[in-house]
Amino acid sequence: MCGIVGYIGDKRAYPILIKGLSRLEYRGYDSAGIALLQEDNAIKIYKRQGKVLDLTEFIGDASTEGTVGIGHTRWATHGLPNDVNAHPHSSGDGSITLVHNGIIENYDVLKKELIKRGHVFKSETDTEVLVHLIEDIKEKSGVALEEAVRIALNEVHGAYAIVVLSTDEPDKIIAAKKSSPLVIGIGEDEYYLASDATPIVEYTKNVVYLEDEQIAIIHRKNGMRIISLRNKEVSPYVQELEMQLEELEKGGYEHFMLKEIYEQPRAIHDSFRGRLNSKEGWVSLGGIKDYEEQIANANRIIIIACGTSWHAALVGEYYFEDLARIPVEVEYASEFRYRNPIIRKDDVVIAISQSGETADTLAALKMAREQGATLLGIVNVVGSTISRVTDAGSYTHAGPEIGVASTKAFTTQLTLLALMALAIGKRRRTITDKKFQVYLNELEALPGKIEKLLESDDYIKSVAAEYKDAQNALYLGRGSSFPIALEGALKLKEISYIHAEGYPAAEMKHGPIALIDENMPVFVIATQGHNYEKVVSNIQEVKARKGKLIAIVTKGDTAVRDIADHVIEIPTCDEFVVPILATIPFQLISYHIAVMRECNVDQPRNLAKSVTVE
Ligand code: AGP
Ligand code: GLU
Repeated sequence: MCGIVGYIGDKRAYPILIKGLSRLEYRGYDSAGIALLQEDNAIKIYKRQGKVLDLTEFIGDASTEGTVGIGHTRWATHGLPNDVNAHPHSSGDGSITLVHNGIIENYDVLKKELIKRGHVFKSETDTEVLVHLIEDIKEKSGVALEEAVRIALNEVHGAYAIVVLSTDEPDKIIAAKKSSPLVIGIGEDEYYLASDATPIVEYTKNVVYLEDEQIAIIHRKNGMRIISLRNKEVSPYVQELEMQLEELEKGGYEHFMLKEIYEQPRAIHDSFRGRLNSKEGWVSLGGIKDYEEQIANANRIIIIACGTSWHAALVGEYYFEDLARIPVEVEYASEFRYRNPIIRKDDVVIAISQSGETADTLAALKMAREQGATLLGIVNVVGSTISRVTDAGSYTHAGPEIGVASTKAFTTQLTLLALMALAIGKRRRTITDKKFQVYLNELEALPGKIEKLLESDDYIKSVAAEYKDAQNALYLGRGSSFPIALEGALKLKEISYIHAEGYPAAEMKHGPIALIDENMPVFVIATQGHNYEKVVSNIQEVKARKGKLIAIVTKGDTAVRDIADHVIEIPTCDEFVVPILATIPFQLISYHIAVMRECNVDQPRNLAKSVTVE
């Protein structure tokens, strides 16, 4: 987690760093800090617990001169989120300063050794070890900053993206990465550094994504060089950014989350555009075309993901097993990587990730790679690490998702999984032509149906108002709607801090039913489909215990309307796309409840958008 930025060039670094940190704030907001190299070659550091806004208020009118600087917004892993632990961190004599994203796993051993050698530590962070280590090496061997950084990084275990400044070499910025992301934007005689491209896009479209174990040496006059940790010269691969600046703004919405909920018709359209043609009756995913045969012949598909992306994976299991008849296993990346799983060469592993940077998902992929499986990605952030380490994959094309609670990334992941399962099902002839055609039509009709559904937002808000003071909530669904119940519960938990559980509707009677009384809101997906009657029975069981019932139903439903306290209609559709449509009312319910409870919707407490630590 955490966001890092850097700048070296002719402009004033301060506004660039602050704006960059605001863009990266979704990655962590425990503290924020900057370091500026001043005219007199002294480094000025400002850092503060809290958000970027707290930092700028703290800085006030103080001096912010300097054309070289680095910045950090923290998601604490080691040490409390206070002023002292905030980055940047400095060496004992103050000559070297750095920001770090990641975890130095052997920090304790290194710290003890450095203390023995006389280093005095100010913070509780793992990061501070790194800056003292670089100082120690530089002092002892008198090497240039980049060499000291290189030697130091060869001694540390763990994950890092770092940007380093030194008063002794004021025309230089050194950056390096391993397992945490770092992008370098190349302008005219200036360079921008950031954890992702969002702080860079308004200045330049030319970027280099630093690879693991690479060090960038950026000199104000001599330009940029990249070397490996083993000291081999690497030629930088410059790419052009596709992102547009407007995509990063709120565009008149009160929160990014609301904007992103409303963007879903467009996002879903973009996720199938050019990949599906209902008139001609085909689905084609360019990114995985060369691997289709391999997927079709796979012994098994293993889908790995975390959080909301894991919920998408569960829906993917229904899609692949139903349409392509390939066995699927869905795994939490964090569990998978630590349990010695059986992976065979003819397994296809699909990683699903919005950010493309989730550390657990990356580590699970690495393990699958070592055991010879084919690796595919379903990723939103273009150019992210997962998109680069997989053999092939498809982007969801949802556009930048800034709200920490995932919305449009999720529904586009579902769309992509549906497309993939259809493409493979067609190839394996496990889906009839008729069904194939119906499903293509259903996917194509989705953006229009979501537009329609969003028109009920005022009504959904009025339903939300009734339950804003709830302390617990239950979400129920069956079949491919069960993962949507999980996702509904996660959304409510993460942004409104109401405890919520998702369950398969039929499991309720095996335990959770004990929780139901007149204060318990129960959200149920009871849309038309083969489980409908069964879900209606589950609903009766809730009502018999006086639970408050809010049901998502298909337009025109009367049976559930008679029993439920509230019904929210989704447009008439095939069961196939219910997971996508039923997600939207749950997103809106959570959003409105969180706003009514005055929670920070876009940046919920303790969370971060991109979980680049284990
Ligand atoms: C979603 O609302 C979350 N905040 C979180 O669970 C997220 O889905 C998870 O961390 C996975 O992230 P990724 O999709 O970027 O890999
Ligand atoms: N481990 C560092 C700290 O706790 C960096 C945290 C991060 O990357 O989120 O300060």
